[in-house]
Amino acid sequence: MVDEIKVVSIIGIGFMGKQIVEKSADKNYSIRMYDANPEGFDKYTRKIARRKRIKKVSGDVSFHDTIAEAVKDADLIIEAIPEKLDLKKEIFSEIDKFAPPHAIIATNSSSIPVSKLEDSVKRKDKVLNIHFYHLTVSPMADIMRGSGTSDDTFQKGKNWVESIDITPLIVKKECFGFVFNRIWRAIKKESLKIWAGGHADFEVVDQAWKIYTGMGHGPFTLMDQVGLDVVWDIEMSYYNESGDPNDKPPKALKEMVDNGELGRKSGKGFYTY
Ligand SMILES: NC(=O)c1ccc[n+]([C@@H]2O[C@H](COP(=O)([O-])OP(=O)(O)OC[C@H]3O[C@@H](n4cnc5c(N)ncnc54)[C@H](O)[C@@H]3O)[C@@H](O)[C@H]2O)c1
Repeated sequence: MVDEIKVVSIIGIGFMGKQIVEKSADKNYSIRMYDANPEGFDKYTRKIARRKRIKKVSGDVSFHDTIAEAVKDADLIIEAIPEKLDLKKEIFSEIDKFAPPHAIIATNSSSIPVSKLEDSVKRKDKVLNIHFYHLTVSPMADIMRGSGTSDDTFQKGKNWVESIDITPLIVKKECFGFVFNRIWRAIKKESLKIWAGGHADFEVVDQAWKIYTGMGHGPFTLMDQVGLDVVWDIEMSYYNESGDPNDKPPKALKEMVDNGELGRKSGKGFYTY
């Protein structure tokens, strides 16, 4: 636990928000949660509180009905809502309105640099990107500044990431996709093109990747795990930034999302679960 941060608020308790909650709860931080869809969070809050007792760590855990309540005593706020630029701007502005002046606001966005969100807040020196990966398999996070992020904010963000046993990947100069996500994105984009273009089945791509890298899963298995709706939003965010038709994700992916084939979370994506 770092001295300067005691209360961490997480906004958006989905696939990523939950992982951030659990990592932080395990290390003594007090946790405040908010999600636009509050269903099931009573049970989840009790589960995290029980987990803290079992691990013998202090710090309370609570779920709140409003962002105002969830951030009012926060030292650090992590936003992990869907990858939609306008929505993130709206939520950043709301967090800024209600969080204490000293609080740091970080986005877990997979592709949007915080410099595109910073105009929504007054505290431009206290915002940054902290982009976590799937934390049980890849315990790392890209950390990137906005145009006005202070050294103090950056250092506190980095210290906090290290305190929850996550390796920080420092981005020295702003870049769409950060450090490793940019590399993963190139693999994902080309894999989708091979499949949607009818050049090869997705199973063959996964098979090749597994043989080549020795990993237990390929890009399509990973995309199913991330969620195909999330993959679509991320790819659209790259496309909206570049305007390059080559960056546009394939229609076949959108058809799967529209059919409710979202990957592991819906029971069917590229694979069936
Ligand atoms: N899925 C991944 O592997 C992954 C990895 C790294 C980063 N990310 C990024 O993390 C963010 C969240 O992704 P996810 O996979 O956890 O998505 P998710 O769909 O699993 O979770 C998003 C959560 O946000 C909630 N939400 C929606 N609108 C909201 C609002 N206005 N206020 C509060 N909560 C709201 C939803 O109810 C949901 O619980 C995205 O920016 C994504 O790009 C995702």
